[in-house]
Amino acid sequence: MFDRDWFTWHELYDTPNSKLARRLAAVREQIAAALDDAPPGPLRAISLCAGQGRDLIGALAGHPRAADVHARLVELDERNVVAARAAAERAGLPGVEVIAGDAADATHYLPSVPADLVLLCGILGNLTLPGVARLVEHCTQLCGTGGSVVWTRHREVPDPVPWICDRFDENGFERAYLSEATVDHGVGRHRFLKDPQPLSPGTSLFRFVGHDRLINGAAPWWT
Ligand SMILES: C[S@@+](CC[C@H](N)C(=O)[O-])C[C@H]1O[C@@H](n2cnc3c(N)ncnc32)[C@H](O)[C@@H]1O
Repeated sequence: MFDRDWFTWHELYDTPNSKLARRLAAVREQIAAALDDAPPGPLRAISLCAGQGRDLIGALAGHPRAADVHARLVELDERNVVAARAAAERAGLPGVEVIAGDAADATHYLPSVPADLVLLCGILGNLTLPGVARLVEHCTQLCGTGGSVVWTRHREVPDPVPWICDRFDENGFERAYLSEATVDHGVGRHRFLKDPQPLSPGTSLFRFVGHDRLINGAAPWWT
């Protein structure tokens, strides 16, 4: 059950210099930086609530490590799944696999963990704060040692981005990048320094509440 039309939401990316277009550019830069830092050999990437995959597919297109990457994108809206598969094909990226399903179900990621790159883009603002804390904790089961989590969160007042950084810190991640506080979109990249924990099939990683329900008080962020 969707709280909004997540297919048309992606049209905002097509408006040059829109908040979302600028966020996309920043996310692609951080994905490219993570790939630049990654060890040689095959790489595994996962994207939760991947939408049309514009971030990862855009960053991989033309990147020297593109052929090394096997990516598993999980997205619920079938229209976005179709769009992401088509974009991967157009970009010549056979290693990009797009799964239609519930991204909260850990079972989807079992073949792809521990991952070198975990994308949590456009997702944290749709979770309660305890839900964000739980998902960051689950990143210790998704991300391999030295791997990166690239994440986004809009910076509405009260700005939760410093709090999110603290959650990464306390779970064994170090901050590799954080966008300036004055920029309206928050983009972060954290590297995992510890050994990954086992991921149990069937674990529910998060509950996607939806930004609109969170701001209208139906399910406030802090509940
Ligand atoms: C804000 S968009 C972000 C899309 C993409 N990650 C990006 O940043 O461009 C949120 C996406 O989450 C998807 N979504 C919502 N609940 C989901 C779930 N339980 N499993 C998989 N995808 C979900 C929506 O269909 C939508 O495409």
